[in-house]
Amino acid sequence: MKATAKAHTNIALIKYWGKRDESLILPMNNSLSLTLDAFYTETTVTFNRELEEDKFYLDNEIILGDQYTKVSKFLDLIRNYADSPLFAEVHSTNAVPTAAGFASSASGFAALAAAATRALDLNLDNQTLSRLTRQGSGSACRSIYGGFVEWEKGVEDDGSDSYAVPITPQDHWDVRVAAVVLSSDMKKVSSRVGMKRTVETSPFYSGWVDSIPSDLMQIKTAIQNRDFEKMGKIAEANCQKMHATTLGANPPFTYWHDTTLTVMQTVQALREKGILAYFTIDAGPNVKVLYQPENEEIVHQTLRKIPGVSNVILSRSGQGVTYQ
Ligand code: DP6
Repeated sequence: MKATAKAHTNIALIKYWGKRDESLILPMNNSLSLTLDAFYTETTVTFNRELEEDKFYLDNEIILGDQYTKVSKFLDLIRNYADSPLFAEVHSTNAVPTAAGFASSASGFAALAAAATRALDLNLDNQTLSRLTRQGSGSACRSIYGGFVEWEKGVEDDGSDSYAVPITPQDHWDVRVAAVVLSSDMKKVSSRVGMKRTVETSPFYSGWVDSIPSDLMQIKTAIQNRDFEKMGKIAEANCQKMHATTLGANPPFTYWHDTTLTVMQTVQALREKGILAYFTIDAGPNVKVLYQPENEEIVHQTLRKIPGVSNVILSRSGQGVTYQ
């Protein structure tokens, strides 16, 4: 009735941006990510006959409102799957700045799904766990696995073929990621709302979807060949393309702050000096910079000195879900 699981966040190199089914969380396009070891969520779920409703604590504080509802609805799915009527107490700790574009929902739902299903003795294989996790938050389905992971969008209406698959062994390639923290403010437009508005109103959205198969094919070859320059170029361009779609939405919006642009330009300037580094940005102002281990010192020092940057956290590739 009780289990603890740990899951890491992931950073998308080919972004998930747009749903074809809002309630099952089925994406318009395949996406591809790298799991990160520096950011994770640890969650303990205890099902208990005495409880009359679910309880959710994040970093020792009781959570109510929308965040609670999302967790409790996800537990409904698991109860349904396990045919159990029991409510649960959920305790999560986050080594991630919540809702600042660090995909805390990814590690959060992956850890919750893993702990809750284990607590009910479901013993799911990873593919089934990924499929279930997807219904909590799309990007979370990739956090079941370590290393480079692809989320296959699937074609079925019931979502049965929409789940993540690891595309390399976790130790395939030592790519590093510097997470550049500009602001720990809550984002103004959540990824869920932002992608919906973009799908419904942005004339650029169809161009985004059409361009994905070629980006994916090329980046997968680059990853297999450990071609850092090629991988970085595709990831950086894919990120800019995703963010371009938001400017075409109605009403238009952007996740970028002025310092976001400064970090992007600094990364490009590093390349002009011969240091290979590439940026990518999720649904928030913070920037993640991909670099190779030999450039760690110079990349770290350069990013830290940018005015408006409050922190730079270095990460390696991380592992998939683990249980305590
Ligand atoms: C920009 O997974 O947070 O980070 O499925 O609605 O919960 P929901 O959205 P979420 O979206 C992540 C969007 C992104 C790109 C990515 O991680 O692929």
